[in-house]
Amino acid sequence: MLEGRRVVVGIGGGIAAFKAVTLVRELQRRGAEVRVVMTAAGARFIGPVSLAGLTGKPAVVDLWDPSYAGEVHVELGAWADAVVVAPATMNLLARAANGHADDVVLATLACARGALLFAPAMHERMWGRAATRRNVAALAADGARFVGPVEGALANGEVGAGRMAEPEEIADAVEGLFASPDLRGRRLVVSAGPTHEDLDPVRFLGNRSTGRMGFAIAEAAAARGAEVVLVAGPVTLATPRGVERVDVRSAREMEAAIQAAVARADAVVMAAAVADYRPAERTAQKRKKSDGPLTLELVRNPDILAGLGASRQGARPVLVGFALETERVVEHARAKLERKQVDLVVANHASDGFGGADNLVTLVDAAGDEPLPRASKRTIADRILDRIVDRLRD
Ligand code: C5P
Repeated sequence: MLEGRRVVVGIGGGIAAFKAVTLVRELQRRGAEVRVVMTAAGARFIGPVSLAGLTGKPAVVDLWDPSYAGEVHVELGAWADAVVVAPATMNLLARAANGHADDVVLATLACARGALLFAPAMHERMWGRAATRRNVAALAADGARFVGPVEGALANGEVGAGRMAEPEEIADAVEGLFASPDLRGRRLVVSAGPTHEDLDPVRFLGNRSTGRMGFAIAEAAAARGAEVVLVAGPVTLATPRGVERVDVRSAREMEAAIQAAVARADAVVMAAAVADYRPAERTAQKRKKSDGPLTLELVRNPDILAGLGASRQGARPVLVGFALETERVVEHARAKLERKQVDLVVANHASDGFGGADNLVTLVDAAGDEPLPRASKRTIADRILDRIVDRLRD
């Protein structure tokens, strides 16, 4: 949450400016006090009056605006705990990277005391330009943070990497700017995604896990200062900043990767949807069809989490599992807590957890059940990490 935080939203001149309205709303919903500054181009996409209406303060477009007693950029730069630029265009990034301060957004960035966050939005080719790469690297080296862009539909109907992150995700990143480094010096191993169990060179048994929950945990843990090894099944998500990623395919590969990473771990979070069974035989050649039915023989995969629980000496590493169920969710989660000898099980209903950006879960441990309100996977990730921090403190 962002109670008591003061955030300036700087709106650049891109079509994604329309999402800045939702971003302002979302930051306010989380408790932040928000002020808006806009470039002249930004003000052509979205009216300053709308943003003034939402924030109760003028949305300043002109550096010479008399609304503030002193100079706008000096006042807002000192006032803000964070400045978030959304959308950040190619041009705006170039000017910020080179220290330009010739409009109210740039001048506020230049004068900011707090953290800086950019949410880029532009055509994929502009995002891929060498000049943009250099400017992003320069801003990151100066300490600025970035969220997105993401892959998706661009304004002209093309699909590509250049779409601005959604307001929820930007608000999560703003929260991340204030995250306390309470996992600094800790090492976490996180698993994510499905496993693919090969039948032959072209076919596999899999499941519908997207990996988003585990990636959110890895990202949040890194933001809180942890050293993170993310063991990822086959997914197409980008590696979160500061996270070491090991890609695997099958449950047995995942087990080996986790065993290699676990030696110095303070906590292991098994968010992966590991296949319980694999085909007894992976044929070297493609299996041929016949007219009759096909019977596959499946054998059990190792239960990675239960293996860690059984071999653990003492209270380290802290072990967290997930329970994805279609019925009697919390009851099954509690049974898993005991059977796998782990510290915490995150219970979620199959209809809530798969695919989306949000999740609805109950935290189950020896002390009881805590149902959390529906929230973004990133927010839920932080609540899970809070529990780990508590256990590591004990
Ligand atoms: O028993 P079930 O598969 O429902 O347990 C889910 C939890 O156990 C998850 O945390 C999952 O990552 C982990 N698991 C595992 N190895 C398996 C199956 C599940 O570590 N083979």
